[in-house]
Amino acid sequence: MTLAIVLPDWQPRAPVQRIHLDWLEAAGVELACLRLDLIDPLISGNKWFKLAPHLQQACAAGAQGVISLGGAHSNHLHALAAAGRRFGFASIGLLRGSPQDTPTVRDLQAFGMQVHWLSHGEYRTRHAADFWAPWLVRYPHYHPVNEGGLALAGAEGCQPLVAMVEQQLPRLGWTDFHGWWLAAGTGTTLAGLVLAERGRRLVHGALAVPARYGVPEQVRALLRAAGHQAQAYHLFEAARGGFARVDTQLVNFISVTEHACGVPLEPLYTGKALMALRQQVLGGYFARGSRLVFVHTGGLQGRRAALGSRADYTEMQSLDAIT
Ligand SMILES: Cc1ncc(COP(=O)(O)O)c(C=O)c1O
Repeated sequence: MTLAIVLPDWQPRAPVQRIHLDWLEAAGVELACLRLDLIDPLISGNKWFKLAPHLQQACAAGAQGVISLGGAHSNHLHALAAAGRRFGFASIGLLRGSPQDTPTVRDLQAFGMQVHWLSHGEYRTRHAADFWAPWLVRYPHYHPVNEGGLALAGAEGCQPLVAMVEQQLPRLGWTDFHGWWLAAGTGTTLAGLVLAERGRRLVHGALAVPARYGVPEQVRALLRAAGHQAQAYHLFEAARGGFARVDTQLVNFISVTEHACGVPLEPLYTGKALMALRQQVLGGYFARGSRLVFVHTGGLQGRRAALGSRADYTEMQSLDAIT
């Protein structure tokens, strides 16, 4: 018999660092990066902050494990499985589509996650009210967590990121900053920042998924659930034709940017988000003197599949070819 989950006493802090890139300097925009990718080699990025309140709930309910779902490259499942192994709780992952052997899936299994594959049709019903019922009959003492940690609890778990940055402003030589820039996949992290900011600083979300994924609606629902009225956020299209679609310009942008500032990026979220920021900066969206914080939301484990095999991922020196 598995023991009930014991809440881990782990409150990671990520460093904030200045990012210098020629297109930022030319536009007079200052950027700092909250390096959530550095909090842990395995439980990396925004995932822990979204997961922690779900684990609290699981712990309070006396659950023996956590069950959640995602794709064959899911950063969310990767972090959940790694946390399960680190903190000694059982985890189950429901994966989309036919069985695949990806670096992520191999890790999930190595971390001890029990994996089930759902057909695309079954996976599409994940938002239905009764989706979890049969799984909870099969695994009665498991706590279900939505795809990507999407829930008000997940958003609330991201609220401490605001204080994390504020505490480090003196080290940056900043007294304050004007806004946030981050990738949005479900919109949960963005909603957490909007809630914590209470309308003070604008939160800019770069949509890593196309409109049909319903992120604007999800963000509105999360904020409504928290009784929040203010609209202090903007969403920008950044999917470049589809979730997980990776084109040569994006790959080149990542290569040049990593070379120029030393921050590793991946193409699905952080690379697309920073490329969308460049587009807005070049278009004059931000006034000279603007100070922004870019949240590095992690996901670097996904590079193995997304960039590892690309012949066009090389050390580039120039952004001239990139629009
Ligand atoms: C690396 C990475 N960045 C950003 C996001 C988007 O976060 P959210 O779903 O909270 O919008 C995700 C998905 O969770 C992710 O894996």
